[in-house]
Amino acid sequence: MVTTSAPGKLFILGEHAVVYGYPAIVAAINKRIFVTTRIVIKNSDEINTLGVSDNRFVRQALLYFKKTFQIHESIAITTRSAFSDTVGFGSSSAVTVATIASLNALFQRKLSNNDIFNLSYDVVKNIQGVASGADVAASVYGGITYYQKKEKTVVKKIECGKIHLIVGYSGVKADTVTIIKKVVNLYEGKKAFVENIFVDISLLVEKGLHHLEHKEYEQFGTCMNKNHALLHKLGVSTLMLDTMVKAALDAGAWGAKLSGAGGGDCIIAIGPQSKKQKIEEAIEHVGGEIIDVSISLEGTKII
Ligand code: PMV
Repeated sequence: MVTTSAPGKLFILGEHAVVYGYPAIVAAINKRIFVTTRIVIKNSDEINTLGVSDNRFVRQALLYFKKTFQIHESIAITTRSAFSDTVGFGSSSAVTVATIASLNALFQRKLSNNDIFNLSYDVVKNIQGVASGADVAASVYGGITYYQKKEKTVVKKIECGKIHLIVGYSGVKADTVTIIKKVVNLYEGKKAFVENIFVDISLLVEKGLHHLEHKEYEQFGTCMNKNHALLHKLGVSTLMLDTMVKAALDAGAWGAKLSGAGGGDCIIAIGPQSKKQKIEEAIEHVGGEIIDVSISLEGTKII
């Protein structure tokens, strides 16, 4: 029997554009999903996904792993999650990564993290249709990463000291696939308009990377604000997300933006520690829920 875990994630900069081959910055968080696998003497696999309402990711990860490595034993899988799958912390990717990692350890396949990434990304892509893999990278490698999916995948760990994110949940669960499709439709209808937004987002990601590496958090906040404005222009923000962002900025945040596909889920904000409480109260005042989250250096691991 083997138990592994993998962290959820938050997009810091570059969501949507990253699907089209532009870079993004994504962070692993201290909320994790746990997956236990064991071999059972039965005729079929047993999957029990507690805390993860969509069990397709576990099921497909298991089938894909068995097919790839010609495994014929029956497997029992149970999951446990330290976060709700309604808040947009990347539960699908985290559970996929933890399942592949757990099976890897159970069958002693000695897969590298890159192998675990590739297998997990295949599973997520097959189910979702379109996916950048950035959240898979966060779940595998941990920390804050600069991620780009082109012919070659770029995953670069960013050394930036400790950044404290304030996370405000909008109360609405976003449907990532529907929003990605909305952007695909817009891209097909107004290619130049959307391409320009993506290029501008990618410039902010490069600038943001520089500021993070130099621990210039205030300037980094400005990049977040500009990224939020571009996501708004792309049509993926909502009144509630915009309202929480404004509340955070009015309360003294250096930067705030929606995180992830948009349409709901969370905003993230950064600001001086002295203003943390004021920013949190301002977000709550407009109806947001503060979720206590910190960035985690740990990627997937065996427990
Ligand atoms: O909604 P989330 O947190 O799963 O983020 C989706 C981010 C996108 O860039 C829109 C899609 C992707 O696969 O990167």
